[in-house]
Amino acid sequence: MLKIAVLVSGSGSNLQAIIDNIESGYLNCSIEAVISDKKDAYGIDRAKAKDIKTYILDRKQLGINISSEILKILDGKVDLIVLAGFLSILQGELLHVFKNKIINIHPALIPCFCGGGMYGMKVHEKAIEYGVKVSGCTVHFVDEGTDSGPIIIQKVVDVYSTDTAKDLQLRVLKQEHKALSEAIKYISDGRITIKGRKVLGI
Ligand code: GAR
Repeated sequence: MLKIAVLVSGSGSNLQAIIDNIESGYLNCSIEAVISDKKDAYGIDRAKAKDIKTYILDRKQLGINISSEILKILDGKVDLIVLAGFLSILQGELLHVFKNKIINIHPALIPCFCGGGMYGMKVHEKAIEYGVKVSGCTVHFVDEGTDSGPIIIQKVVDVYSTDTAKDLQLRVLKQEHKALSEAIKYISDGRITIKGRKVLGI
């Protein structure tokens, strides 16, 4: 069984989708830890409600040392780290030890509306402002860059001229809840290989 850690900064609806997919039997994995970089993240409450071990690593106190603290907690304990709305940037030794074993979900079709400073509602505001006709979400492996690692799954949604950023966020979020669990399933089934920028086996 694949052992995973889920890292959150906010509401944790993606974490909840993973929990639900484990409980339904769709995912054959166990959540060994949920880590938040914000003490009031609702994702922590969701984890506690299921008796999952939780850790708060305050990003304001830890700054760039957050990655080494995560490594101390997770080294040797999990097979995969899932960033589910985790907003701190990871770096250093953690990325080497967990090379190709960290995945992230981003609420747009990478390489659009991504990179430094692009997260949460800002992404949808930019998509609406730009006038795109489709948007979506991307699950990708995490490398040294921001939103730059090989893409595992993308899901597309329509964007309508009447949409607010909130409308788009809700439409994309529904697809995120499917995409993240699908990516975890592909990994736990051992289906995926990475060749350069390409993820094969999907
Ligand atoms: C999600 O939309 C996720 O894609 C986004 O934060 C939200 C977290 O929602 N992540 C990023 O913007 C990362 N660049 P959740 O806490 O309800 O899962």
